[in-house]
Amino acid sequence: MRVLVTGGAGFIGGAICERLTARGDDVVVLDSLAAHKEPPEHLPDPVELIVGDLGDEEAVRRAVEGVDAVCHQAARVGLGVDFDDVSDYVADNDGGTANLLRALWRRSFTGRLVVASSMVVYGEGRYRCPEHGDVRAEPRRRDDLDEGRFEPRCPRCGTGLAWAPVTEDARLDPRNVYAATKVHTEHLSSLYGRESGAAVCALRYHNVYGPRMPRDTPYAGVASIFRSALESGAAPRVFEDGAQTRDFVHVDDVARANLLALDSPWSGACNVASGEPRSVGDMARALAAGFSGAPEPVVTGEYRLGDVRHVVAAPDLAAEALGFRAETGFAAGMAAFAHDPLR
Ligand SMILES: NC(=O)c1ccc[n+]([C@@H]2O[C@H](COP(=O)([O-])OP(=O)(O)OC[C@H]3O[C@@H](n4cnc5c(N)ncnc54)[C@H](O)[C@@H]3O)[C@@H](O)[C@H]2O)c1
Ligand SMILES: [Zn+2]
Repeated sequence: MRVLVTGGAGFIGGAICERLTARGDDVVVLDSLAAHKEPPEHLPDPVELIVGDLGDEEAVRRAVEGVDAVCHQAARVGLGVDFDDVSDYVADNDGGTANLLRALWRRSFTGRLVVASSMVVYGEGRYRCPEHGDVRAEPRRRDDLDEGRFEPRCPRCGTGLAWAPVTEDARLDPRNVYAATKVHTEHLSSLYGRESGAAVCALRYHNVYGPRMPRDTPYAGVASIFRSALESGAAPRVFEDGAQTRDFVHVDDVARANLLALDSPWSGACNVASGEPRSVGDMARALAAGFSGAPEPVVTGEYRLGDVRHVVAAPDLAAEALGFRAETGFAAGMAAFAHDPLR
């Protein structure tokens, strides 16, 4: 099968390319190399690299030529600096996806389309009040956070809420520009499926970590930030009280989920997660344990008003629809990540 991987020079795209070439697929990558200081060295050998932007119509036209399947990973990632970034995010992620879909449409492509989405489409996680059942958490208040009250409260009775795993039918509630572009990417792609008859699957990755994760950029994930601190002999600085909960999923598992999705006829959106929720404090401690003589993580009580307290994925739909279950456990994955090469 000939597969186009957009963003194939990136962290997740690169891991997907490795798996595809290892099983003998013919892989073409379209990547602007925007996220790279130097040309990436790790692209597996038989991959054909087209250096070009999703906004470049001619590059995209060449990239989709003759492909049987498309795995769309390219995107401007992270949270950006402030709202001034809105036009860049929309141009790259919405505009880029639109350009890709139009090129596929012009080719009458009805093959498999898999797109990278994110847990950020949900905004907050899911919460339950012991009295009122499933409720939406109220926006967090500065005075609560200043006093160290980090748990969201029930809008009806004010009781602290317990988290529950987020299922895919949760309301989409993007809370920043990047998240809004991920929702739009899902919607445009699913419309393409409806109009063309192609089977389209969106994978909502949770917190991805592993080898070749970008380091030290304002956009790097928290695992990479802690890892960089430990390498320089500093203690990871854990915000809030460290009990905020996430699902950390290894990039090998994310790549495997993409191959399963490419091989499946299932249309829809599903979480891609480890199913092993952990607190950010646990993650810092697990990473620090991988460095001999590393300082203990410091819980700082600092906060960012826009941060989500708990987002934990329900992994069941991916298992049912795609047969995907994560294989890298938290302890083993984090121990390896302490020494994985970063980009
Ligand atoms: N890393 C995570 O935790 C995470 C979580 C949820 C979703 N995602 C999604 O996964 C996908 C891959 O992310 P990643 O973490 O590998 O990031 P990455 O920056 O390592 O990879 C993205 C790649 O896309 C390329 N690119 C960016 N804009 C482009 C454009 N306009 N045209 C062509 N190429 C372009 C970059 O050069 C880079 O190689 C993205 O769609 C991202 O939104 C990532
Ligand atoms: Zn209540």
